[in-house]
Amino acid sequence: MAFLADALSRVKPSATIAVSQKARDLKAKGRDVIGLGAGEPDFDTPDNIKQAAIEAINRGETKYTPVSGIPELREAIARKFKRENNLDYTPAQTIVGTGGKQILFNAFMATMNAGDEVVIPTPYWVSYPEMVSLCGGTPVFVATTQENRFKLRPEDLDRAITPKTKWFVFNSPSNPSGAAYTHDELKALTDVLLKHPHVWILTDDMYEHLTYGDFKFATPVEVEPKLYDRTLTMNGVSKAYAMTGWRIGYAAGPLSLIKAMDMIQGQQTSGACSIAQWAAVEALNGPQDFIPVNKKIFEARRDLVVSMLNQAKGIECPSPEGAFYVYPSCKGLIGKTAPSGKVIGTDEDFVSELLEAEGVAVVHGSAFGLGPNFRISYATSEALLEEACKRIQRFCAACK
Ligand SMILES: Cc1ncc(COP(=O)(O)O)c(C=O)c1O
Repeated sequence: MAFLADALSRVKPSATIAVSQKARDLKAKGRDVIGLGAGEPDFDTPDNIKQAAIEAINRGETKYTPVSGIPELREAIARKFKRENNLDYTPAQTIVGTGGKQILFNAFMATMNAGDEVVIPTPYWVSYPEMVSLCGGTPVFVATTQENRFKLRPEDLDRAITPKTKWFVFNSPSNPSGAAYTHDELKALTDVLLKHPHVWILTDDMYEHLTYGDFKFATPVEVEPKLYDRTLTMNGVSKAYAMTGWRIGYAAGPLSLIKAMDMIQGQQTSGACSIAQWAAVEALNGPQDFIPVNKKIFEARRDLVVSMLNQAKGIECPSPEGAFYVYPSCKGLIGKTAPSGKVIGTDEDFVSELLEAEGVAVVHGSAFGLGPNFRISYATSEALLEEACKRIQRFCAACK
């Protein structure tokens, strides 16, 4: 009898966590490494949010909370959906989890049966297929292309849907490509979904507040209210409020699904951290003025990185609408010889030779299901980004 579960053979460790660890290990050995692998803002959590947590501790808010979250936070979430997305949800239709990750996991856990398919556009956030597989479902990938700015074409979505499709996972702005769908682009997808009433939509709106220029964020139910009864709209405070370590994510959707997710969570972690929930109440209800300030900073970094990468020989980097990632192609380097003498055969080779030669840690595109590309997280200072891009330019010029 095997000791470890068969389910483990279906999952891979997170490539983004592995790259961050490799960069840390090299740094510990004294190497000068710039890590551009991590998916978290480099800003600190705003003071008013920290203060709300301190006050919660002092008030003694240190006990178990209801599984789906404290009423104050569920009310704040319902208000947020109305205020920012024009969506009507009662607090009972919301649920709070330990990070957006737990929300997604609970949604799959509560709905997956063997043979169920989940349509996931590539490139995807690394955890979607692994969660689906762990919960006994089958991920079905639909490719996008760099020419189409990594956006799914409606006809490709239509073709991927079968009678076994349970969920379509939508993520805009996207990790890893930064691509975000306009209202009209999303409408073309929701029109396809209307034709397939058995398919549920899981929209991961984690990067909602990180879009640039005059881009206007849109979420599926706002664009097509007829999808209300079969959509789970997920969001969280991790990225927009620089609260990755607080571990608060949330969602709203049909009551029956929220109740099923509550049941899973009740046998797993129960309510999220009480103190972090009070901090999230302040994040959602308090002043929002630092969001446009951070957006401006991210936008300037995106422009810097896109411009410098496009000057690197063999690299092509589209300018994405949102998140804090770019997803350049390294196709022009495939087949070339790196300074070490090794021939670059894949994006994974490119990434490991770059780390070896120049100490720049990025994540290979094949980890996100679409290459030859790589992901750079620009959630770090302009000075470091400039230095990293100079090193990438030097590396590319040295490949023959
Ligand atoms: C697209 C996407 N969804 C969800 C998450 C998970 O967020 P959280 O840190 O709140 O679990 C991440 C984090 O990297 C993400 O990039």
